[in-house]
Amino acid sequence: MRLEPDIEAHYAAGREHGRLTSSPSGRLEFERSKAILRRYLPSPPARVLDVGGGTGPYAMWLADSGYEVELVDAMESHIEFARTLPEAAKLSGLRVGDARSLSFDDASFDGVLMMGPLYHLVSETDRVQALREAHRVLRPGGMLAAVVISRLASILDGYFGGLIDDPVFQTIVRDDLDNGLHRNPTGNPAYFATAKFHAPAELEDEMRQAGFGSPTLIGIEGFGWLLPDLATRIEGDQGEMLMDFLARVETEPSFVGASAHIMGIART
Ligand SMILES: C[S@@+](CC[C@H](N)C(=O)[O-])C[C@H]1O[C@@H](n2cnc3c(N)ncnc32)[C@H](O)[C@@H]1O
Repeated sequence: MRLEPDIEAHYAAGREHGRLTSSPSGRLEFERSKAILRRYLPSPPARVLDVGGGTGPYAMWLADSGYEVELVDAMESHIEFARTLPEAAKLSGLRVGDARSLSFDDASFDGVLMMGPLYHLVSETDRVQALREAHRVLRPGGMLAAVVISRLASILDGYFGGLIDDPVFQTIVRDDLDNGLHRNPTGNPAYFATAKFHAPAELEDEMRQAGFGSPTLIGIEGFGWLLPDLATRIEGDQGEMLMDFLARVETEPSFVGASAHIMGIART
C-alpha cells in the first residue's frame, strides 16, 4: 500500500527506529505505553497483532515477554529493517499490510495494538474501517489498544518545545485546533507529516462506531512530556515516582487531552 507522499518521505528517512529510546519524551512514551499494555493485555501466552507497528519496538518487547506476535506495517522499509533485527526471530510473522484490510482470519487474536495507523488515516471512514478490521480479527473478549495523537499536541509542543515563533508553525497549529487535520508544507521533520490530531471524544466515537463499547481513554504521557527537566525526572527513583504519578492521573480528562498520545482501550 502507499501512504501519502509526505508521510512516506517522513518515514523513508529512517527516523522511526530508535525514536522511542533516543529522547526523554520518546522513552517516556515507550515506558508508559508498555506499563499500560502490561496491565490491560491478557497474560502470555496470547496471540497479539501489532498493526502499524513500525520497526517493531512493541512487537519485539511482547514477543520477548512470551506473546505470540504478528507485526504489520504499511512501510516496506520498516518491515525490511525489522527483519534485520535479531529480536525478529521471536516474532510469529512480519508483513507489509494496510490496517484497513488485514490479511488475518476472523477472531484469531487475543489482542490488537493499533499505535500508528490512526495518526495517518485522515478520513474518518478509513479510521473506522481500520478499527472495524481490528474488531473482526479479535476473539470475543479480545483487547484493542488504539492510539491517537492529541489535538493539543502541536500547540503544547509549540510553546513548550520552542517551535511557536515560526509563523508557518503558527498556521499549522491554527489548522490543528480548528479541524484536527495536521499538514506540514515545510518538509521540516520536527513538524511531522500529514496526520489526524484527535480530540479525546473523537477517538471514543470512532471506537464505538467500529463496535467497541465503553472505551477507556488514557493519557500516555499525561503532563510528563511537558516537563522542562524530563531528562532527569525520568531516571532512577525520580523516574519511578513520575511513572507512579502519571498512572494515578492517566484517566483524568484534563490530562488525557494534554497528553501527546491518547490510548483507547476496549474489548470486543
Ligand atoms: C509513528 S509510527 C508508530 C510505530 C509504532 N507503532 C510505535 O508506536 O512506535 C506510525 C506507523 O504507522 C504506520 N502506518 C500508517 N498508516 C498505516 C496503515 N494504513 N496501515 C498500516 N500501517 C500504517 C506507518 O508506516 C508507521 O510505521
